[in-house]
Amino acid sequence: MGKYRCFEVRERGYNEFSRSVELKDTQELPPGEVLVRVHYSSLNYKDALSASGNRGVTRRYPHTPGIDAAGVVEDSSVPAFLPGDQVIVSGYDLGMNHAGGFAEYVRVPSEWVVRLPAGLSLKQAMMLGTAGFTAGRCVEMLLIQGCLPSQGDILVTGATGGVGSISVAILARLGFAVTALTGKNESAFLRNLGAQAVLSRIEFLRSRKKVLLPERWSGVVDTLGGEYLETAIKETRYEGVVTSCGNAASGNLALSVYPFIIRGVRLIGIDSARCSMEIRERVWCRLATDFKFIQLEELAMVISLEQLDAAIEAMLAGSLRGRVVIRLI
Ligand SMILES: NC(=O)c1ccc[n+]([C@@H]2O[C@H](COP(=O)([O-])OP(=O)(O)OC[C@H]3O[C@@H](n4cnc5c(N)ncnc54)[C@H](OP(=O)(O)O)[C@@H]3O)[C@@H](O)[C@H]2O)c1
Repeated sequence: MGKYRCFEVRERGYNEFSRSVELKDTQELPPGEVLVRVHYSSLNYKDALSASGNRGVTRRYPHTPGIDAAGVVEDSSVPAFLPGDQVIVSGYDLGMNHAGGFAEYVRVPSEWVVRLPAGLSLKQAMMLGTAGFTAGRCVEMLLIQGCLPSQGDILVTGATGGVGSISVAILARLGFAVTALTGKNESAFLRNLGAQAVLSRIEFLRSRKKVLLPERWSGVVDTLGGEYLETAIKETRYEGVVTSCGNAASGNLALSVYPFIIRGVRLIGIDSARCSMEIRERVWCRLATDFKFIQLEELAMVISLEQLDAAIEAMLAGSLRGRVVIRLI
């Protein structure tokens, strides 16, 4: 197959990492049944951590990050996938400890590969990416738990981020009244996605000391953790549902049991890396059908491998808005 371009992270010294676009040989790719010519990848928070030497995400360097890839099968040793098939690969160990999607090729186990659903292009699939899949999974969980638009407002935290912005758009599309929590001055962007109200992070944390707060939310999509998740749970209405998928602010959660034993609040964890293929196929299919929203193209900025380094810095600083797609064709 020959040479391919990739975004490589190398360890230069104790806690010192460099990032550059390199040429590698496809023979260096890890083993797997399916070789995919990547057309698009996307930037997720986990990639920013992997690209800056976070050992909780990536144990060994040199390494090619990228937990998302969408492209065309070039070679396959299993009958389920044939050359020319359009596919999505995301989650599992891709981009963590297995060479990832910030490259023109990935080689992966066939169990990691999802067929591109009808109704999405490869580019749209990466505009969504793991962030969109996770947003879809959070929203689906609210629905599975019985949340209905008539029951009251839904809070989305980290609302201008990838998971947050897509959650706002899907929920609004389904008829929910969404309150978007943000640290940025981005009301117009969030209202265009369908948010009915925009709340500032500072204002939100003002009264958080009490064990229970006035009931406001019938459901929550939380991407931040820490005091934001604590406050959201304390403000969740009787038998409301809180989904927790992220730790952009903190991995901690300091709470009393009162929201659970007095209000019957349900706290549900969401993982997209290891969830079953059945869930994966179903949620991708919903993202292409009933969860599909018209603002998707406006949410994403398309960049090259060369522009990735700056985008990673912006993501770590929390200053990005929406999604970053990396074009590899
Ligand atoms: N469980 C899973 O499988 C899964 C899958 C995907 C992502 N995640 C996690 O979900 C979280 C969000 O991912 P993402 O891809 O949406 O990231 P992202 O695009 O970087 O968005 C994160 C957003 O959180 C807010 N934020 C960032 N730093 C913050 C801080 N220190 N304090 C308070 N708010 C902060 C910002 O939004 P505002 O300025 O609008 O507040 C930012 O845009 C991450 O923790 C990620 O690891 C988990």
